[in-house]
Amino acid sequence: MSNIVVVGVQWGDEGKGKIVDLLTESADVVARYQGGHNAGHTVMIRNEKFILHVIPSGILHKGKTCIIGNGVVIDPKSLIEEIEGLKSRKIAIGKNLYISGRAHVIMPYHTMLDGKNEQAKGNKKIGTTGRGIGPAYVDKMSRVGFRMIDLLDSRGFKEKLKANLSDVNFLLEKKYHNTRLRPERVYSEYMRYADYLSPFITDAVVLVNNLIDKGKDVLFEGAQGTLLDIDHGTYPYVTSSSASAGGVCTGLGVSPKKIDGIVGVMKAYTTRVGGGPFPTELTDKLGEDIRLKGGEYGATTGRPRRCGWLDFVSLKHAIRINGFTSIALTKLDVLDEVDKLKVCTAYTYEDPYKRCECSKKGVACKFTDMPQDANVLEACKPVYKELPGWKTNTQGVKKLKDLPKQARAYIDYISESLNVNIDIISTGQRRDEVVVLKNPFK
Ligand code: IMP
Repeated sequence: MSNIVVVGVQWGDEGKGKIVDLLTESADVVARYQGGHNAGHTVMIRNEKFILHVIPSGILHKGKTCIIGNGVVIDPKSLIEEIEGLKSRKIAIGKNLYISGRAHVIMPYHTMLDGKNEQAKGNKKIGTTGRGIGPAYVDKMSRVGFRMIDLLDSRGFKEKLKANLSDVNFLLEKKYHNTRLRPERVYSEYMRYADYLSPFITDAVVLVNNLIDKGKDVLFEGAQGTLLDIDHGTYPYVTSSSASAGGVCTGLGVSPKKIDGIVGVMKAYTTRVGGGPFPTELTDKLGEDIRLKGGEYGATTGRPRRCGWLDFVSLKHAIRINGFTSIALTKLDVLDEVDKLKVCTAYTYEDPYKRCECSKKGVACKFTDMPQDANVLEACKPVYKELPGWKTNTQGVKKLKDLPKQARAYIDYISESLNVNIDIISTGQRRDEVVVLKNPFK
């Protein structure tokens, strides 16, 4: 029996969908613990592409139990569309999907406020997905949010909605010069969603813990990535939930004692979507080539992703926070045509305020640990080590020995420098395009 967490090591979009899908074969249960429909997990099955937003990827496998935990925020309209979309593609959904009654609900005003808040930030905007994620978590923390269980109490829902909308409408009208939201309209819309979703709503804490106690293998599916974590990411350019491994305990009500392994999904290079510092970003033709070859466009919003070299300083930070027991390295084949690879081993930084000892001595500061301040990170310059590329097609390689020696040297360099076990290497989009050296469930 094993319970394994799968977490993104960078700024999300590392290819977690494929790794979760691969590992789901060995699991009985797949449970999501944070985020919402800002996530987009792409899974290729045979030549069919599935993009999942809030439903765990395990839904694509027969006989697996999928759980959406209390740490997730749910837009009922989008979830219903996702369910219907999957059903129309012959994916059975019924007693294989459960939603925590404690999960918070995204309301129409959350989505509106997400857009308005971003607009108001001008060039300091975060570049959110515009799905209402941040405002929904704000209401959760302010203790005025709706939970899925509230959808089942129509009278209570109506009263609370009236109270919430009086504040929200004040903001919409006075600050944003928007029209008011009408409580009756929101109420009847959400009661329709309640009718549809009520069979899925359960006490997921009891459910997941009972399944663990019965000896079932559970895969905890993370969304986004460690550098987007609300506490440990590049704040404020982050999402509003705990994307790193610690989120499992709060986002599902599972004790850390019950977690047996933590798999970090790491792309062989780095991408980021939205605003915020990215020291190893490639703004030249090579960055564009990587974006094209890697299909680096957001699965949820279609936005082009910013691409860059692997960054050991931020990876070390992610490794420290999550304590990965193994790493799945993805999209290695995207680097096939690159002549020379670069890996960032440290940052240099010139302090404009001359506060630190280095600047007093007239030399640049050197960071091997990630600075806490996004403004400092923004001004950091990467120090690179160069490694030879392999200039060979690796797509679909399934055995380590079949990878070119420069590709193996790149993998060994990452593994040794960061002191991590790289147990899975993904060499293409399809489920079978992968080298599995060790299955974390076995
Ligand atoms: P939010 O989660 O929509 O509030 O967006 C906050 C930041 O997280 C923005 O930079 C988004 O682009 C980023 N983000 C949110 N979800 C994902 C994801 O699934 N992959 C990559 N970036 C994401």
